[in-house]
Amino acid sequence: MRITILTGAGMSAESGIKTFRDSNGLWEGHDVMEVASPQGWNANRELVLDFYNQRRKQLLEVTPNVAHIALAEFEKDFDVQIITQNVDDLHERAGSSKVLHLHGELFKVRSTEIPSTIIDWKKDLNSGDFYKDGYQLRPHIVWFGEEVPEMDTAIKLVRKTNVLIIIGTSMQVYPAASLLQFAPLETNIYFVDPKPSVNSSERITVFAEKASSGVLKVIEKIKANEY
Ligand code: APR
Repeated sequence: MRITILTGAGMSAESGIKTFRDSNGLWEGHDVMEVASPQGWNANRELVLDFYNQRRKQLLEVTPNVAHIALAEFEKDFDVQIITQNVDDLHERAGSSKVLHLHGELFKVRSTEIPSTIIDWKKDLNSGDFYKDGYQLRPHIVWFGEEVPEMDTAIKLVRKTNVLIIIGTSMQVYPAASLLQFAPLETNIYFVDPKPSVNSSERITVFAEKASSGVLKVIEKIKANEY
């Protein structure tokens, strides 16, 4: 049985990383457009670099939570594919082996000119850090208004899944939120979020609770063949 899991910021909330929309539209004190858009990058590169340097430092200090670990262990019994909107590496650190990052990765950077030049990067990134092509490096993050290169792969994965589990996302950001539409009609869908943006229906079972408790309940249900 194929299980596809779409995760958002709420997945990592209990690891200590703030979600985006739970804090008045500010993201760690910043307007998201200032720090996460090509316009922001062009307007104030230092601010954007500093913002992601802080995020990288924070990520080095946090650890996967029980929900990340439960999803990694879920692989022992099922074919589990994670599609995450998160740029952290907490799914990987918990042990999940199939993780598709829709919005990029905090620990990667690339040349501003050639998108395929992705390299690992855990330290600070500064103005004057160049790729070997001679161009400034930028965070490997999909900013607002940019294309989501992994979207086609994500759609293909959702189209062939038997079960879809959605965890900790406000479903406000497209195209990621549209993935729900691609689940086959017979797919059972679970939604875990303390403030769920969808209602329960014949196809969708909502657990209006935190990932740490909700994920364990969904796994229990699936293991008991109640999917
Ligand atoms: N467990 C599960 N869900 C939680 C928890 C928790 N402990 N705490 C908060 N949440 C939920 C909130 O109720 C909300 O629905 O997590 C969701 C977070 O929503 P957003 O902040 O909008 O994050 P997300 O949906 O991942 O945002 C999508 O927007 O800013 C961009 O590119 C960024 O990937 C991000 C995208």
